Parts: sequence; C-alpha cells; structure tokens
Amino acid sequence: MKYYAILVAGGSGSRMNNAIAKQFLLLNGKPILMHTIEAFHKSVLNVEILVVLNIQQHDYWKSLCTSYQFHIPHQIIEGGSQRFHSVKNGLSAIHDEGIVAVHDAVRPLVSAELILNSFETARKYGTAVAGIPPIDSIRVIKEADRNEALPREQVMLIQTPQTFKLDILRKAYEQPYSENFTDDASVVEKAGFNITLVTGERSNLKITWPEDFEIAKMLLKKEAPEIQEPEL
Ligand code: CTP
Repeated sequence: MKYYAILVAGGSGSRMNNAIAKQFLLLNGKPILMHTIEAFHKSVLNVEILVVLNIQQHDYWKSLCTSYQFHIPHQIIEGGSQRFHSVKNGLSAIHDEGIVAVHDAVRPLVSAELILNSFETARKYGTAVAGIPPIDSIRVIKEADRNEALPREQVMLIQTPQTFKLDILRKAYEQPYSENFTDDASVVEKAGFNITLVTGERSNLKITWPEDFEIAKMLLKKEAPEIQEPEL
C-alpha cells in the first residue's frame, strides 16, 4: 500500500497580518512548514510528501530549504486560487492508488499517533477525518435577530488530517468548486461518501491568528524544553 500526504501551503494567511506568509514564520527557529513536513516524514508508513505552494513562493521555499539544510524529500506543486484548487492540483500529481492524507501546512503540531490512526482508519473505511468536541456552548443563527441553542454533543470541530482512499478523493474532486467546500470532508460528502471521524487533538491547532502562533510556540517549548543553564 502506498501512502501520500498533500500538505496545502498555498494560502496567503491574511488573518495573521504578517508580511511573511504564516507557513514560513519561524517556530522554534525553523519555518512552520518544515515542522509539518517532519511530522509526516517521521511516520512509520514511509509517506510520500507533496507540498502545495503558490508559484510565486517556490523559489523562496527552495532558498529556505538550502539555508536551513532541509533535506526531507518532497515534491513541490503549484497552488490554486482556493484551498479546493490547491488540493486538486496536489491530487493530480499522484498517479498510483493508495491512501492520501490532506493536511493544512499550518497545523505543525499534528502527532505521529494521529497521522498513523488516520491512515489506518482510511485504509479500513475509505475515509478518516480528525475532529474534536467543542468546549464552548453552541448557538445556531436562524435569522439576523434569532438564534437557538444546539446540544453540544451534536457537533464536532473538524481539523486535518483528512485522509481518504485515493479513488474516493479523486471522484470527489471531479465536482465543480462550491464555496461550501471548506475542507475535503465537505467535498467527499457531497460526492455521496460517508465520513468516518477519528479523534483529533487540541494541540493540533491551525495557526490562523497571531494568538495561535503564540500558543504553538508555548506547546512546542513544552514538548522540547530548552536546555537549562547550569546554576553557578
Ligand atoms: N491554502 C492553500 N491554497 C489556498 C488557500 C489556502 O493551499 N488557495 C492552505 C493554507 O496555506 C493553509 C490551509 O490551506 O495551510 C488552510 O487555509 P487557511 O489558513 O484557512 O487560509 P489562508 O489563506 O492561509 O489564511 P487566511 O484565510 O487568513 O488568509
């Protein structure tokens, strides 16, 4: 069985409000995207990695790989106008059958356990989408001035990896783009397939706002504490 990861990094990261696209910001002294590639490379499944990047950032990324002596093999794919098109471009670069995990490059703290569980579940059931239960109460907006409580047990917050048998994901991505396609699960579901949920992780946060970046830095420090200076 062949295993692939499409790491989508073709976005502009406007909500981070930073001159450098967020996937290149330094986390523990290394670009976020390198952490994400490493997470998949560490998997025991020998995952083939495809990184989707805006064409204007291909040279910049190559120069970062040189500066940071980053040698994990990966294919660089041209990004699209929406996440949907970036995934579709990644998908069209895979010619074999197997299992593919689609993952937001800006979720660098994904664990090896979640990656493995996602691939194994998708191998069994065809689909595996990471989700966590919400901690806040939920209300549904009915009209401009009317909203209604929704039992929290009925809701899951969806993350990536979103992992699929390749034939399922290819079939789903033949559909024309819709703005309701906010992730891969919504595309696959619209094509008539059932979505299997796997347990996600609170630490698998999507770096979106500046606060998320600060939290990611703290979580990473906890994982790999800096060497303490000896007391004199
Ligand atoms: N993405 C992509 N191609 C696009 C848009 C997004 O590959 N055309 C990727 C992003 O790089 C990111 C993931 O999809 O890893 C999730 O996107 P998100 O963070 O929501 O979007 P950004 O455009 O990066 O950020 P923002 O919405 O704040 O501008």
